[in-house]
Order: sequence, then structure tokens, then C-alpha cells
Amino acid sequence: MKYKFLGDTGVLVSELCLGTMTFGGEGYFEVMGKVDQLEATAQVKTAFEKGINFFDTANVYSYGRAEEMLGAAFTDLALCRDEVVIATKARGRMYPGANQIGLSRLHLMSSVDSSLHRLGMDYIDVFYVHGVDEYTALEETMRGLEDLVRSGKVRYIGVSNHTAWQIMKANGIAEKNGWTKFVACQHYYSIAGRELERELVPMMKDQNLALMPWSPLAGGFLSGKFTRNNESTGDNRRDSFDFPPVDKEKAYDIIEAIQPIAENHGVSVAQIALAWLLHQKSVTSVIIGAKRPDQLLDNIAAVDVTLTAEELAILDRVSAIKPEYPAWMIERQSRDRLIQ
Ligand SMILES: NC(=O)c1ccc[n+]([C@@H]2O[C@H](COP(=O)([O-])OP(=O)(O)OC[C@H]3O[C@@H](n4cnc5c(N)ncnc54)[C@H](OP(=O)(O)O)[C@@H]3O)[C@@H](O)[C@H]2O)c1
Repeated sequence: MKYKFLGDTGVLVSELCLGTMTFGGEGYFEVMGKVDQLEATAQVKTAFEKGINFFDTANVYSYGRAEEMLGAAFTDLALCRDEVVIATKARGRMYPGANQIGLSRLHLMSSVDSSLHRLGMDYIDVFYVHGVDEYTALEETMRGLEDLVRSGKVRYIGVSNHTAWQIMKANGIAEKNGWTKFVACQHYYSIAGRELERELVPMMKDQNLALMPWSPLAGGFLSGKFTRNNESTGDNRRDSFDFPPVDKEKAYDIIEAIQPIAENHGVSVAQIALAWLLHQKSVTSVIIGAKRPDQLLDNIAAVDVTLTAEELAILDRVSAIKPEYPAWMIERQSRDRLIQ
């Protein structure tokens, strides 16, 4: 397991992060999996023993149950708080009330208190805003986050599912006011979903922001169990929950390109899909998710896969995104800027 810096913070996180969206399985989240406390504790134990020091949850996962289970797992395993980096999030609706949603100072402040209570912890290492709130001014959100950091309840702040310009604007507001800036981005990224390479990845590189890809297997689609001839194998989340959206024809081309590479390495298709992400320079820590112990072990083993330049080129070609304006114009106009 390698460790990478969380942006400019000096904090090291493992190149894999354990996601907890399968913990609990209550209500809307039932389709993700119904990992119970014993299994959740076993997942955390396996992950920690394999070198994972980074754990991702959110207030909305099973409406707080995932946070409770993650906290209980740390207590059960008597893990030292300082040895792990814990991330949680807020934005989604938790309760029916008018203000139980969004990125207002009001909701962020109460969300952090509730998350700390459920986790049984005194502080959150990385607190993400879980998505865009079009009804709250960025100044309001950034000021609320600054106060959370100053209060000691939050160490670092991160941003999820925002556009590049929104992140730049938010950090600009923070910088102008001497407030805490976002250090990490949690966005969807997989070999079948590379759209963030257009604007977000260059921005993150320029700003030295950490990138934590979510749904690295596109919700299980890239595990190899779905093929053109067998779209459903039963008891899979993607059977009834078609998310994240995938261009299926292109994804099958990608899976077919992965298969011989996986066979050559003697590993699973899932491991190659994860290894491809781990080989991307922009990626800090890939957030893996598992419904069963064998999936977790399979996914963790991806850190041992080294892809050759030729294999990376094959995978890059089959999964490349179409150039979009102004990217193709910038590339064209930049050609004669090269020193021959
Ligand atoms: N910020 C956000 O908006 C956001 C959104 C989504 C997720 N996340 C975070 O990212 C984490 C990971 O997301 P994800 O769960 O969607 O990741 P994923 O890796 O794309 O999908 C995980 C699912 O794929 C299947 N799977 C995993 N490994 C497998 C293997 N080796 N072989 C066969 N099937 C396998 C399992 O479901 P089945 O067995 O049912 O197929 C598993 O639950 C979450 O836990 C959460 O922490 C964040």
C-alpha cells in the first residue's frame, strides 16, 4: 500500500480509501448492500491490516447508520483515532424539516455535531460538502466551513460533485478572506467515466488538490460480471440501480480490452479497472466499496498490479473521451509553442 499527500496538507493517506455506502442498507440505501455491524467491523479490520488508513462515510449513508457503524467498528477494534483519517460529508436530506438539507451555515453546523455524535469522535479529518446547493451563496458555505475548522471539529475541508469553476470560485472567496480552502475533491472517476479529465483534473493539478474517485468500478459494472451477453447476474446493485450512468457499449469495449490483460496478470477484471485508476497521476486515493469480504480482498489486491506502458496505452485508447471545444482548439493552437 502506498501513501500519498492530501494536497498541500502534509497528511498522508493510503492510495485506497474504504467507502462505507454498503454499511447498514436502510431505506434508499438498501440497494447498495446490507452490511451488518459484524461484517462492517470485519471490513474495517481487513482494510486497516492491509494498510488502509483512510475511511469515507457521509451523514446520508443509511441516514446516519453508516457513520454509527464505522464509529462502532473503530471502538470494537480499539483502533487509535490518530492512526486513521476519517472523512464524512453533508448536503443531502437527513430529516423532513425545511432546513435539514443543503450547504447553509445552519445545516453544516448541525450536521457536523450530529456526525460527531454518531461516529463517537471529537473531530472529523476531512469534511466534504457532498454536492452543489444552488440556493446557498458560496460565501455562506465557506464562512460556515471556516468556523467549523476554527472550532476544532473539522481538520480539513473537501468538495464533492462540484464543477471546476465552482471550486475555483469557492477557494478564491476563502483566500480573499483568509479562510480555510478546500484541499480535496471527491468526484466520480472510472475507466468508463473519464469526463472529469476535461476541466476538473487540470484544475486540481494546477491547484494541487487531492482527488478521491468515487464509484471506481462504476457501481460494480467494471467488475467483469456484466458482459454483452450477460447483463444481469442477480443480486447486484446495478441490476436495479443504474448508477452512475454508463455508456454501456463503450464500457463493454473497455471490459473486453481489460479481460486479456487481467488473464495475463492472473487477476480479476475489477483489479485491472482499479489499477488503471491507481496509475493515474491525478489520483490521490481511490474509494473502494464492497458488499462482501471476497470483493474487499479482490479490490485491495489491485495495489499489487503494475500495468506496462503498452497495457496502459491499450486501456487509454479504448476508454478515451472525445475531445471537446475548447480543448481541441487549445491543443491545435499549442502545437507551434513546442520547442522543436
Ligand atoms: N461523493 C459521492 O457523491 C459518492 C457517490 C458514490 C459513492 N461514494 C463513495 O465511494 C465509495 C465507493 O463507491 P461504490 O460503492 O459505488 O464503488 P464501486 O466500486 O463502483 O461499486 C461497489 C459495488 O460493486 C460491486 N463490487 C465491488 N467490488 C467487486 C468485485 N471485486 N467483484 C464484483 N463486484 C464488486 C459491489 O456491488 P454488487 O455486489 O451489488 O454488484 C459493490 O458494492 C462509497 O462507499 C462511498 O464512500 C461517494
